[in-house]
Amino acid sequence: MKLIAERVKPRQAVADTLALFAFEDSHALAGGWSTHDRRIEKRYAEAARSEDFKGKEKSVLVFYPEGAKPARRIAVAGLGKATAFDAERLRRASAAIANRIKSLDGKEVTLGLPLDRRAAVAPREQAQAAVEGLLLACYEYRKYKSKPNGSPTRLTRVRLAVTADGDAAPLKEGAERGRIFSEATCLTRDLVNEPPSVCTPRYLAEAAEEVAKGADSISIKVIDEKEAKKLGMGGLLGVSAGSSEPPRFVHFMYTAPGAKATVAVLGKGITFDSGGLCIKPADGMLNMKDDMSGAAAVIGIFKALRELKPRVNVHGIFAASENMPGGGAYKTRDVLRAMNGKTMEIINTDAEGRLVLSDALSYASKLKPDCIIDLATLTGACVVALGPEVSGIFGTDQPLVDRLVAAGKSTGEKIWQLPLVDEYWDMIKSDVADMKNSGGRWGGSITAALFLKEFVGEGIPWAHIDIAGPALTESNQPYKPAGGTGVGVRTILRFLETQAAN
Ligand code: BES
Ligand code: MN
Ligand code: ZN
Repeated sequence: MKLIAERVKPRQAVADTLALFAFEDSHALAGGWSTHDRRIEKRYAEAARSEDFKGKEKSVLVFYPEGAKPARRIAVAGLGKATAFDAERLRRASAAIANRIKSLDGKEVTLGLPLDRRAAVAPREQAQAAVEGLLLACYEYRKYKSKPNGSPTRLTRVRLAVTADGDAAPLKEGAERGRIFSEATCLTRDLVNEPPSVCTPRYLAEAAEEVAKGADSISIKVIDEKEAKKLGMGGLLGVSAGSSEPPRFVHFMYTAPGAKATVAVLGKGITFDSGGLCIKPADGMLNMKDDMSGAAAVIGIFKALRELKPRVNVHGIFAASENMPGGGAYKTRDVLRAMNGKTMEIINTDAEGRLVLSDALSYASKLKPDCIIDLATLTGACVVALGPEVSGIFGTDQPLVDRLVAAGKSTGEKIWQLPLVDEYWDMIKSDVADMKNSGGRWGGSITAALFLKEFVGEGIPWAHIDIAGPALTESNQPYKPAGGTGVGVRTILRFLETQAAN
C-alpha cells in the first residue's frame, strides 16, 4: 500500500474516493474543505439535506459529484459533537469510511482531515489516528477460507491531502506512524487468530525469530525445555507438563543508541488453555486459543520497534506453553518452584497464567530494567469487573500506571486501574508453600496481581495489565473485526515513545 501526504489544489482530481469529515450539526465540512472548493461544498449541502446526514458519529454520507473532479466519489464521515472531538473519534470515523469503501469495492482513498488551527488534536496525531482507523478496519483473516468471498479488501493507495496553506510534513510523519502501529497490531491479530493446534509455543517462538531476523537493533534468545530446567523455571515447566508440545521462553532485546531507560515488556503465552486437569467447561474453553494474546502483543511490538526506533531499550519476554490435561499433567496440591526460588501450591490448574508469569517476572527482574510491564489474559474476574472492552491495570508505581492509562487514552484502548489490596494476601497464603495459585472467587483479579507481585524484583516499578476482556472480540467493531484485536500493541508503543522522550 502506498501512503502519500501532499498539498492539493482546488478542483484537482484526487482519487477514486475523497473522504471528508463533518461535525454534528455543522453545515460546513470540517477542516476548511468547504472554502477550499466551493463546488464540493454545494454538492455536500445538497446530499446532506436529501439524506438527512447530520454529522453524527457512525454515520457516513456517500455521494457522487458530477464530472470526475475532484473525485468520482465523496464520502463524508460524521465526527459527532465538535466539543467532544478526540483522536479516537477520528479513528472510528475513518474506520467507518473504510468499511463503507470496502462494500463499494474502492481501492484508493484521499483523506481530507478535519485540520483546523483550533482543533483539539494536532495534525500529526490526526494523520496517525485516521490511518490506523483505515488500516485496522481493513484487517481480514482469510487464511483458512477455501473460497474467500470477494477479493481482499486492500487499500492500494491512501493519500492525505492538505489544502493550499497547510503543511504536509506532520501528516506524512503521522501517517507513517499509523502504518507501523497498524501493521504491528495486525501481526498480533494474525497470531491470535491462528488455530491453537498450529499456533503452538514453538510456532510463537518462530514468529518471534522471524520478527528479529535481519534487524541490527534486535537480538533474540529462545530458551527450550532443557534450558528452562537449568534456569529453574518451575512455573513454566509445571504448566507445560500435561502437554505433548514443548514450552518455549523467548527473550527479545531492542537496543537504541543514546537510550537512557530500559523497559521490560512481558506477555502471557498460553497457546491453549483447556484449564488442565481442572478442565474448563466447553463454553469457557471456546476462545482459549487467545490466551497467548500478551505474548502475541510482545511480538507485534517488536515488529514495530524495527521501524519506529524509539530512543529507549526494550526487553520483550514471553513464556509460552499449552495448558492441557495429560498423563504427566501437574496436579492440585502439587508444589512448583519458580525461577526466583519461591514456591507455589497448586489449588487450581486453571490458574496457570500466573505460574508461567512467575518465571517471566523473575527472569525480567534479573535484567534490572527501569520498569516491568506485563500483558496477560489473566482472569475471568477482570472481564466480570470491567466487561469486554476495558483492561484492568495494577501497579506498584503510580506514575508508571498513570502513563500507561494516558497512553491508552490516546490509542483508544481503555484501561482502568484496580487496587493491589494487601489485606487480600491472606487469601493466597499456603500452609505448605510460599503461596497458593488461587485465592478463590472473590477479588480474583486482585489476588492474581498480588501473586505476580511476589516475583517482581525489589524496587523495580511494575505494572500488570489484565487484557482478558479486550484481547478478543466476538462481534465486528468499527476497526476491530471479530477475533483477536491486538490490544496492547499500540498503547505500549505509545508508552515507549513517551519513555524515549523523557
Ligand atoms: N485464561 C484464563 C482467563 C480468561 C478468562 C481469559 C476469560 C480470557 C477470558 C485464566 O487462565 C483462567 O483460567 N483464570 C481462572 C483463574 C481461577 C481458576 C483462579 C479464572 O479466571 O477463572
Ligand atoms: Mn486458565
Ligand atoms: Zn489462561
